[in-house]
Amino acid sequence: MSFQITVQPSGHQFACDADETVLSAAIRAGIGLPYGCKNGACGSCKGKVVSGMVEHKAHQQRALTDDEKAAGFALFCCATTGADLVIEAREVGGSSEYPVRKMPSRVASIEKVAPDVAVITLQLPANEVLAYRAGQYIEFLLRDGKRRSYSMASAPNLDGPLTLHIRYMAGGMFTEHVFNTMKERDILRFEGPHGSFFLREESDKPIVLLASGTGFAPIKALVEHLIHLGSTRPVHLYWGGRRPLDLYMHTLCESWAATLPNFRYVPVISHAFPEDHWTGRTGFVHAAVMADLPDLSGYQVYACGAPVVVDSARRDYVAQCGLPADEFYADAFTSEADLHT
Ligand code: FES
Repeated sequence: MSFQITVQPSGHQFACDADETVLSAAIRAGIGLPYGCKNGACGSCKGKVVSGMVEHKAHQQRALTDDEKAAGFALFCCATTGADLVIEAREVGGSSEYPVRKMPSRVASIEKVAPDVAVITLQLPANEVLAYRAGQYIEFLLRDGKRRSYSMASAPNLDGPLTLHIRYMAGGMFTEHVFNTMKERDILRFEGPHGSFFLREESDKPIVLLASGTGFAPIKALVEHLIHLGSTRPVHLYWGGRRPLDLYMHTLCESWAATLPNFRYVPVISHAFPEDHWTGRTGFVHAAVMADLPDLSGYQVYACGAPVVVDSARRDYVAQCGLPADEFYADAFTSEADLHT
């Protein structure tokens, strides 16, 4: 049995089966609802239910508070329905532009670029390409039915294998495998591309790129895409980590700053040890942006990394720096423990 979902203000309509989420049905129908994690953690898919009722599967409080729920908001990645619905949601062009595909890949290389970060490259089957937008992610399909999401760390215009940045999480089943037992030539199945975290190319506003830890991966893809476009938009890249080692591609960022016009790079370290001899910016990366750019009213911000960083940035930039709420684009990472799809 399926129900009809009508999206306001676009008027787009699609069918949703009783056992699928509103977001899954929208993706299947090629309707570009915004989303990030697809598991109730990031809040990117939040919208309003204008008429009808939804049931929510498990989700995180910070993604949808009880007050928001009471006010009629829903997380469409976790919401199912047993009736026709009218919803209010911003639609994004481009997130459903490329077909979501399942395909096998072969591990071409595994490189440890920091004690807890591996860059893996994936070779696709001969004559296959994965069309995606810089900033999007894929989901590995694990044997037990679970999924793990990782952003592509290179722009789609660059020929060559897909690259991903994987942070080790103690006890995390997938990352234990990546760091301890995975070998070159192993086969990994994935589905993608997913996500609505990508460059809004129609804008000419200056850009703040905010990354923490391996949240740098899709940010790197965005920078490469901006380079590919020959963009002259001013870009301020802020990359935060606990210790300098966490900025595992610091030299690359410095080379961008040295060679690209209108490109600024600010590394920010929160917990340097004396032996790190860190002489750069210290503190929390989202706060460094506010100190340097107290008026964000004319900017776009693209943020990716730890949920606490992304959530703080969204809240403070809008409330204190005048950033329009709809100019904050985010892809909050979730830990393996959070993932339950
Ligand atoms: S909470 Fe729905 S996509 Fe992240």
